[in-house]
Amino acid sequence: MIALTPRQAYRLWAPNYRGDNAVCVLEDQLVSTLTPPPQGRRLLDVGCGTGLRLRNCGAAIAFGVDTSTEMLSAGELDNVAAADVRALPFPGNQFDLVWCRLMLSYLPDLKQAYTELARVCRLGGDVVVSDFHADAIRAGHRQTFRDAEGTLHEIIHHPHDARAHMEAAAASGMIMKAAHSGTIGASIKPIYERANHLDMYARDQGLAIVALFHFETVYERVNDRSLR
Ligand SMILES: C[S@@+](CC[C@H](N)C(=O)[O-])C[C@H]1O[C@@H](n2cnc3c(N)ncnc32)[C@H](O)[C@@H]1O
Repeated sequence: MIALTPRQAYRLWAPNYRGDNAVCVLEDQLVSTLTPPPQGRRLLDVGCGTGLRLRNCGAAIAFGVDTSTEMLSAGELDNVAAADVRALPFPGNQFDLVWCRLMLSYLPDLKQAYTELARVCRLGGDVVVSDFHADAIRAGHRQTFRDAEGTLHEIIHHPHDARAHMEAAAASGMIMKAAHSGTIGASIKPIYERANHLDMYARDQGLAIVALFHFETVYERVNDRSLR
């Protein structure tokens, strides 16, 4: 199987992307229970995909960006635009809460992305990042999907461990408020049952598949002051 770039992959996946695999469901459970709710806040979802996390999220303002115009079109939301996390089309200090969910593993390097996430968030605001867990990649898990014809594809991705996230966030003027690992367990067992994959569930139970970080922006990086 030849691995696809994220742009190629999400162009193909967009028509049948549901966000209902084990990683996506577990990630959503963790974000909903362990991170600040978006209710009444100015929210930016970076790498929003079809925007499914933005629907009915309760934010005062909810905006999403993604590099895949096909994913954005499939979601049919108005409040979204095409943009790369490494060059966000917003002035600094605009949002109370910035999400970047299950996206950073598509970048070989985290620094520029974290600089942008921190820049667009107001000082004292929250940046919530989730990623595919490096342990899962080390254990042989790969990011794959089936296109509308049922053909299996792999997406090129890069493992980033917790230290890499923390260092990039710290260099961008953020402190870490919390870090969590989401492991394969009872909360997502029904997904394996429905897919008739209880053998995989038994094999991988306890394996960390989602990494979740909650950062707060605490200082302006001197060189970026003009951007805020
Ligand atoms: C696994 S999906 C997650 C979508 C959404 N965050 C969610 O949790 O439902 C990853 C998304 O990241 C987007 N993406 C990949 N690289 C990106 C980049 N450099 N900047 C912005 N979005 C990117 C992809 O197009 C895709 O829609």
